[in-house]
Amino acid sequence: MFLRSQRRDLMTPRSNVPMRWRDEVSRILITKAELHRRVNSLAAEIERDFAGRELVIVSLLNGTVLFLADLIRRLTLPLRLDFMGVSSYRGGTEARELIFTKELRLDVRGRDLLLVDDILDTGKTLACVLAKLGRLKPKEIKTCVLLDKPSRRVEKVAADYVGFEIPDLFVVGYGLDFAERYRNLPFVGVLHPNVYLNGAESMTSAAK
Ligand code: IMP
Ligand code: MG
Repeated sequence: MFLRSQRRDLMTPRSNVPMRWRDEVSRILITKAELHRRVNSLAAEIERDFAGRELVIVSLLNGTVLFLADLIRRLTLPLRLDFMGVSSYRGGTEARELIFTKELRLDVRGRDLLLVDDILDTGKTLACVLAKLGRLKPKEIKTCVLLDKPSRRVEKVAADYVGFEIPDLFVVGYGLDFAERYRNLPFVGVLHPNVYLNGAESMTSAAK
């Protein structure tokens, strides 16, 4: 269930983008304050749902770094944290095949898992990681994503906790990247098309 305020559209004016990022970000989709409020309420939901249990959080690298750091510092329930490295974007905006760059180290058999990712897009990443985790026989797996782009879904997968539902736009910031850039932006913004047009050119010339 989404509140109307959690559905983001293109109403935020370009002038909201700090001067430093105006050539690269067309507009801010989710402000720092909105992220802060929503992450707090997600943490409260998780805290309530998992009360009295120890949680194992499995977070997908690299896009979850900012979201995860903010989320877990709001949690007071006992938890252990581990990471899996998954890469599906090879420097562009179109998905390629999935590569595991870091494997899980904790034993999760019989545990309550919370799988955290930055964004649920086609669903291929989450579907693949869920299948892999399922083979490790945890007691339960719940999923939490900061952003959800339901219009792009290919796999039949939904997250249990969703920060914001967004339209089909390529977004960066608050951990999300384009070719490993823009993860440090404190807001979620729409990537300016100039960036991936120029980026594709410079990557082509670098490969030559
Ligand atoms: P999926 O496998 O198509 O669901 O894609 C999930 C992964 O694709 C995410 O973990 C992101 O790394 C990446 N991704 C999808 N959409 C975006 C976007 O708009 N900006 C940045 N990364 C994205
Ligand atoms: Mg990612």
